[in-house]
Amino acid sequence: MAKPTYEELENKVRVLELRVGHLHLLEKELRSLEAQFSLVEKQLRQRQRMDSLGTLAQGVAHDFNNILSGIMAYLNLLSLADDNFSPSQKAYVQNIVNSVKRGAATVKQFQNLSNRAVSPKENIDIYTVAQEVFLLLEKTTDKLIEKRLDIEKDRVFVCADINEIHQVFMNLATNAVHAIEAKGLKKGDRIRLSVNAETRKSADLQYLPRGEYYEFLFEDTGIGMPEAVLEKAFDPLFTTKTGPENTGQGLGLAMVKDIITKRHEGHIEVDSSPGRGTVFHIFLPKADDACGLEEPPAVIQGGSGTILIVDDDPSVRESLQRALEDFGYRIIPAGDGEEGLARFKENAGAVNLVLLDMIMPKMPGRELLKQMLKIDPDVKVIISSGHDEGHFEDPIIKSAKNYLKKPFEITVLEKAIRQVLDQKGCSA
Ligand SMILES: Nc1ncnc2c1ncn2[C@@H]1O[C@H](COP(=O)(O)OP(=O)(O)OP(=O)(O)O)[C@@H](O)[C@H]1O
Ligand SMILES: [Mg+2]
Repeated sequence: MAKPTYEELENKVRVLELRVGHLHLLEKELRSLEAQFSLVEKQLRQRQRMDSLGTLAQGVAHDFNNILSGIMAYLNLLSLADDNFSPSQKAYVQNIVNSVKRGAATVKQFQNLSNRAVSPKENIDIYTVAQEVFLLLEKTTDKLIEKRLDIEKDRVFVCADINEIHQVFMNLATNAVHAIEAKGLKKGDRIRLSVNAETRKSADLQYLPRGEYYEFLFEDTGIGMPEAVLEKAFDPLFTTKTGPENTGQGLGLAMVKDIITKRHEGHIEVDSSPGRGTVFHIFLPKADDACGLEEPPAVIQGGSGTILIVDDDPSVRESLQRALEDFGYRIIPAGDGEEGLARFKENAGAVNLVLLDMIMPKMPGRELLKQMLKIDPDVKVIISSGHDEGHFEDPIIKSAKNYLKKPFEITVLEKAIRQVLDQKGCSA
C-alpha cells in the first residue's frame, strides 16, 4: 500500500479534528439535556407530592368543613338571639365567628394546593392583619424577642384576601420564632415586619403582571438557612424540624408561596444565611378603587316553603334545620342520598327546594339530583358542598340553582333560598 501523501494526512487530521469538535458539541448538548431532564424530574416529583397531598387535603377538608358548618350555624343562632348578652359576650361570639372563618380559610388553602379556585379580594389595611399576628406573638412568645411592626395604621392598603394574608404572616412568624429558638434565644433578638415606603411598578419587577406593588420585609434574627435549605424551603413537605419537641409538616412556606404568587399574583423571595438571620421580601398588589366591590351583607327576612335538607353530617343537618325553622320554613331532613330520594317521593309536589350535600354514603348528591330530575325536571336545588366543585360543566350539577361552599353563614343561605323561592313559577 502506497504511503499517504502529506496532504492526505493533513486532510485526515482535519476530518478528525472536525469530528472531535462535533463530539464536544454533542457532549455539551447532552449535558444541557441532562440538566433539563433533572429539572423536569424535580418538577415531576414535586407535582406527585402535590397530587397525593391534594387527595389527602380533599378528605380532611371535607370533614373539617362539616364540623365548621355546624359550629357556624349554632353561632349564627346564638348571635341572632343575643339580646341577653353583655357587650363582652357579644364580642366573644363575634371572635369565635371570626376564628371559624379563619379555620374555613385554612381548609380552603389546603384545597387550593391542588385546586385553583379564586377567592374574593378586598381592599385591606395590612396593619390590621399584621397587628393581630403581632399581638398574638407578643402574648405567646418570650419577652426577650422584640416584635416590631413598622407599618402605620390606615396607610398601606393591598388588594388581597384578608384570611390568606393572615395565614402568610402567621406562618412566617411561627418560622421566625422557631429560627430564633433554634439559634438560642438572646437579648437583641427581633422579629420585624416593615414596608418599603416607595411602591414598585411591575415594569421594574419583570416577574409580576401589572400595576403597582408594595414590598414587605419580614425579618428575623434566627439561625438562618444554609444554601441547601434555602433551595428547598418553599417545597411542599420539606422540613428540617424533625426533633421530638418540634416537628414540622413542611407546609408553611409552600402555602405562603402559593398564596402570594398564585392567589395574589405577587412575588416572594428570601434572603438568608447561617448566623445572619432571614429576610422574606413579599410583593403584593397595591389596592386600587376597583378592588373589593363586595356585595352588602345579607339580612335575614325569613319566608315560607318546604325545604328538604339532605346531608349526612348530623350536626350540619340539625343546625340548619333549627335555624331555617326559626325563619319560618318547614324542614324535611334526610341523612343520605337514599333517604333523600325516599323523602322526595313521599312528599311529591310539596318540596319547594332541596338543599343538597354532594359527598354522602349510599347515594352521592349528584346521583340523587339525577333521580330527582327524572321525577321533577323543574326541581329547585341548592348544592351545599365542602368542595370547590370542579365539574360545573356537568349538566346534572348545572341544573342546580345555586352553589354554596361550606361553611357558609346562615344569612347567606337564607338569602340564596329566598332568591330561588322568589323565582317565578314557585308555589311557595
Ligand atoms: N425564618 C426562618 N429561618 C430559618 N429557617 C427557616 C425559616 N423559615 C423556614 N425555614 C426553613 O424552611 C423549612 C420549611 O419551612 P416551612 O414553614 O415550609 O415548614 P416547617 O416550618 O418545617 O413546618 P410547618 O410550617 O408545616 O409546621 C423549615 O423546616 C426550616 O428549615
Ligand atoms: Mg413553618
